[in-house]
Amino acid sequence: MIRLEHIYKNYMTARGSVTALRDINIHVNSGEIFGIIGKSGAGKSTLIRCVNLLERPSSGEVIIAGEALTALSAAKLRAARRKMGMIFQHFNLLSSRNVYGNIALPLELAGCTKKQIADTITPLLELTDLTDKKTAYPAQLSGGQKQRVAIARALASKPQVLLSDEATSALDPETTLTILQLLKNIRDTLNLTILLITHEMSVIKSSCDRVAILQEGELIEENEVGEFFTHPQTDIAKHFITSSVLQHLPAAIERPLLVTEQPHTHPILRLWFLQGTATQPIISEISQQFNLHINILQANVEYIKNHVMGMMIVALRGENVRIQPAIQYLKQNNVQVEVIGYVPNDIAI
Ligand SMILES: Nc1ncnc2c1ncn2[C@@H]1O[C@H](COP(=O)(O)OP(=O)(O)O)[C@@H](O)[C@H]1O
Ligand SMILES: [Mg+2]
Repeated sequence: MIRLEHIYKNYMTARGSVTALRDINIHVNSGEIFGIIGKSGAGKSTLIRCVNLLERPSSGEVIIAGEALTALSAAKLRAARRKMGMIFQHFNLLSSRNVYGNIALPLELAGCTKKQIADTITPLLELTDLTDKKTAYPAQLSGGQKQRVAIARALASKPQVLLSDEATSALDPETTLTILQLLKNIRDTLNLTILLITHEMSVIKSSCDRVAILQEGELIEENEVGEFFTHPQTDIAKHFITSSVLQHLPAAIERPLLVTEQPHTHPILRLWFLQGTATQPIISEISQQFNLHINILQANVEYIKNHVMGMMIVALRGENVRIQPAIQYLKQNNVQVEVIGYVPNDIAI
């Protein structure tokens, strides 16, 4: 439904040309929710604005439902844009218009009659659960309600594609989940294709079918979401995942943490139990087999689609000669092991 072929985007600035996107290739299937994650400045907004040509790519092709947008005349492009709705982080509602008036705006601009507008808006108010708010003004609405108005407005011209630029970034985690659930409902009921960009892994985890990572203008990894979380390929993917699952080490460990091994220290490990590895038996096995004391500092098991992902931070204490073989044993059993650092033996944890 959405095909981006070899998209490049350069910005001319006072200090010369900046390459914001480099050879981006994406194919989003009809009815799919496709997430793009990246840090601030990675090029996410530029990329999504290239999809509806709010931003013209420097080169490359944008093909929506089989139609190459980059080749269209201005009038045809306006019509093609109606196939795409867009929602934003800051909602972009008109404060002088009430809920109904905001949703009606694109229909008024398209020259629809009052009756056509009412017939379109009534079911949209229902779908977004705003029927009793239709005469309220944006200032009287919560963030979640404002975003629901923006979603209804984006759907008013019956698009096939919805583009979402950080639509939940200004919302609290609970409201974020209700908006993501609404997007999934819309995908299911209207068979919409959704391209969603975010800097939050939790958004990817709870709503997307596939995900790609954008870093410094390049797509560096792409996968089905369950596979992405259990078999990440690049260091940046691993970083996004671990930082979303285990946020911080306890302060009692983080402060005295040493980067290199010293006498009278023991290692702190991050263990990543990939698909199908049971966590508890392996921990007790290495404890017994290598006569080590294992202290679990943090643990988390998540279910993403039909994949299970477990992560733990553990302290391993025991004779040094037994620690390396224990780490080898973990690796042989499909556990990814990362040494985070070393803690002096006399630190109580
Ligand atoms: N209109 C512009 N003119 C010049 N540089 C821009 C413009 N818009 C974005 N950039 C630059 O392009 C890069 C990507 O920006 P952006 O797409 O906004 O990233 P993100 O949305 O991932 O934070 C940044 O280095 C940014 O400074
Ligand atoms: Mg942005």
